[in-house]
Amino acid sequence: MAVGAAAVDAVVLVGGMGTRLRPLTLSAPKPMLPTAGVPLLQHLLSRIRDAGLTHVVLGTSYRAEVFTEYFGDGSDFGLDLEYVVEEEPLGTAGGIRNVADRLRGDTAMIFNGDVLSGVDLEALMKTHSTADADVSLYLTKVADPRAFGCVPTDGDGRVQAFLEKDPNPVTNQINAGVYVFQRSVIDTIPTGRAVSVERETFPGLLASGALVMGHVESCYWRDLGTPGDLVAGSADLVQGIAPTSALPGPIGDALVLPDAEVAVGAMLTAGSTIGSRAHVAGGALVEGSVVFDAASIGEGAQVVRSVVGFGAQVGAGAVLRDVVVGDRAQIGSRVELIGGARVWPDVVLGDGSVRFSSDG
Ligand code: GTP
Repeated sequence: MAVGAAAVDAVVLVGGMGTRLRPLTLSAPKPMLPTAGVPLLQHLLSRIRDAGLTHVVLGTSYRAEVFTEYFGDGSDFGLDLEYVVEEEPLGTAGGIRNVADRLRGDTAMIFNGDVLSGVDLEALMKTHSTADADVSLYLTKVADPRAFGCVPTDGDGRVQAFLEKDPNPVTNQINAGVYVFQRSVIDTIPTGRAVSVERETFPGLLASGALVMGHVESCYWRDLGTPGDLVAGSADLVQGIAPTSALPGPIGDALVLPDAEVAVGAMLTAGSTIGSRAHVAGGALVEGSVVFDAASIGEGAQVVRSVVGFGAQVGAGAVLRDVVVGDRAQIGSRVELIGGARVWPDVVLGDGSVRFSSDG
């Protein structure tokens, strides 16, 4: 069943610089990075459309043109898509305020553009409308909330506080990056300067006595802000663990896009994606990784939980674990890179030039 169709607008915040995903975000904004074969944002838009929301406003800033070139007016994706560009990033609340004149209804659903989740948008809307709330937030529970903003609620689900990262959190409920806002609240966000929804708008609403509701749902949730989460999220989509209706192929152990070449004897596992025109040679292992279009993986190479950028080349026998290889970089044969290494675009690492083993 639909969320409430015509009366509810969707707003997706996609204006961030994605610094934690550099160098991948030097050429494409984070929501446009290939994730299970299509831009990350396409998976989120498929969820929004499936919930019956068709009018979507993208709040863009960094590399705004990349979104328009791919999604156009949204009609190919079953959406009516509009774009608003911030010349200077206005922050998460500033980005919401900046799209206010494009909203058609009294209620808007706001999405962080880098979150994958299975949240029931209809149930979130119901929480909001039943309580007649000013703002409602989707909250998820995580095992270790110390790295997140915690959001305690009372017995009625009313939000009590917004607590910044804390070594001793009082709750494991965190802000999961999907909100329902009444239009009247959006109009109170200051214009012309950067405003953070988490640091300024939400605490300000509580201080002024506004009704802010928490909608707690324990379903799939992942913020794809870091390389580790990007590869894990992509693998979850490929394997059907994360919900989407934008997967360009069947759910399985691996997703191989059209025109990719995978040699007999190469192993693709744990939700890996092989991009279009990419090449994987015999004896190579690609495990839980994302190989972008036109990249190549040499004979016997091992690529584990890593991203290999557009047109990058990984030499024979090279080992990559938890690594990001920038676009067009060349990793020589037998090179070993592990644990968070980031190779910048166009860098050339000669054969055997970086090792973690002592046997040269
Ligand atoms: P990092 O630089 O790695 O922290 O990534 P980020 O810039 O994307 O920031 P963050 O992950 O905190 O952003 C959460 C969501 O809000 C993402 O979808 C961003 O694109 C979006 N966002 C962050 N800042 C802005 C902004 O100033 N304007 C708009 N429109 N969106 C923003």
